[in-house]
Amino acid sequence: MPVSPARAAAFEVLLRIETTDAYASEMLHASRFAKLSPSDHGLLTELVMGVLRWRGLLDSKIAERSSQAIAKLDLEVLTALRLGAYQILFLDRVPRHAAVNESVELAKSAHKRSAAGLVNAVLRKIERSASDLNEGFSHPEWLVERWIRIYGLEAARKICEYDQNAPAQAIRIADAKAVELRSTGRTRVPGPTRVLDELRDERVQVEPGKLLSTAFTVKSGDVTATKAFRERRVMIQDEGSQLVAMLVGRGSKKILDCCAAPGGKTRVIAERNPEAVVVAMDLHPQRAALLKKLVPTENIRVIAGDVRNLPLGGEFDRILVDAPCSGTGTLARNPEIKWRLKPEDLLRLQEYQVEILRTAMKLVSRGGRIVYSTCSLEPEENEAVIQKALAVDTAFQVVDCRNELEDLRASGELVWDGVDSLLRGPFLRTIPGMHPCDGFFAAVMEKE
Ligand SMILES: C[S@@+](CC[C@H](N)C(=O)[O-])C[C@H]1O[C@@H](n2cnc3c(N)ncnc32)[C@H](O)[C@@H]1O
Repeated sequence: MPVSPARAAAFEVLLRIETTDAYASEMLHASRFAKLSPSDHGLLTELVMGVLRWRGLLDSKIAERSSQAIAKLDLEVLTALRLGAYQILFLDRVPRHAAVNESVELAKSAHKRSAAGLVNAVLRKIERSASDLNEGFSHPEWLVERWIRIYGLEAARKICEYDQNAPAQAIRIADAKAVELRSTGRTRVPGPTRVLDELRDERVQVEPGKLLSTAFTVKSGDVTATKAFRERRVMIQDEGSQLVAMLVGRGSKKILDCCAAPGGKTRVIAERNPEAVVVAMDLHPQRAALLKKLVPTENIRVIAGDVRNLPLGGEFDRILVDAPCSGTGTLARNPEIKWRLKPEDLLRLQEYQVEILRTAMKLVSRGGRIVYSTCSLEPEENEAVIQKALAVDTAFQVVDCRNELEDLRASGELVWDGVDSLLRGPFLRTIPGMHPCDGFFAAVMEKE
């Protein structure tokens, strides 16, 4: 079986890089590769750069499955294995059998016929383990493969594991201090310690949250049967969702939460900004009505309607756009999503998200901030949306979420140690299984 020109060229370049001081970027532009078609040249670049970027991970996958120590393998054999493993683990458009067969041929073409069996056996095992991830953890292959590509194999495995179990039930206790500040003296609300005692008396055991000091995890008992829950002093809310709402900050006067229902984040925002009027909007009247019922906080005004038609100017000093999204960060809670979602849905959602975000950006006052968030793990709905919105409205700059998270650590509200692990570039990025919560993305942008 002939080896495709792109793979043969990648094999040659990778061997040269290992045996000389050649630079990959220079070799890829060598004149003898100019005759490759644009798509073959694209694949050549992807294979070479991908193998070089992921060599550590590829070698560990090969070492786990090889009968011979990596250090003992001939360089040609190891390079054929790395090329095959990279395609199996990272390239969803390359059929896996082609990746295996062509690596076997590459080893043979380098006069390593005797190693062809080993290349075949190791790559088949890697192929099976990649499939196990789909089958064993019961996720559609296209989702698993894109997570491996975006977050790496270990994170993808953790996401799948997390999604296959009922997530811990996180609760939030109403910020009693903020409520007391607003109270007239007649409506004093019991503080968190008192609420915890109440829950214990009603046989609900909780333990402190892992991300936030305002959060607790239910260990046993039915929190929905308690008086505190009925009186809306205790809410069920994922810790990642609470953290996103905290990025809206404190001290504002006029806040818009424009995709608000059922209102988990609205409530956090309203309590942390007791002096502000919080306008909570949702497209669907029945969802807006639900928000009104679930979040009876006095500084919230609820509107049913489409944010794209909101007849207001740039008058909000803080806006939260918690956009409708694929929800791939919440598959432990909503497992049906993974079987419904199609790859092409992501760009359709992106178009809608950009439209909503761009409209909302027009409503921010000078010096004000907008927070864009989703519970999606997919860059199309996150980083790409921010990029597209900023390309049109140049009055905004991205604020590094690191500063916001460090402030929350300093105030004792964020108790998670690794601020770094919560960041992807300047954005908040929680990953189910890596963090004790759903997968949330958030970007903060400030208007000049
Ligand atoms: C991710 S959910 C919001 C969750 C909510 N922020 C929370 O924390 O409880 C997105 C919401 O956006 C609403 N929505 C969708 N399109 C909208 C639009 N054009 N204008 C206003 N709301 C919209 C949906 O009805 C849905 O309730």
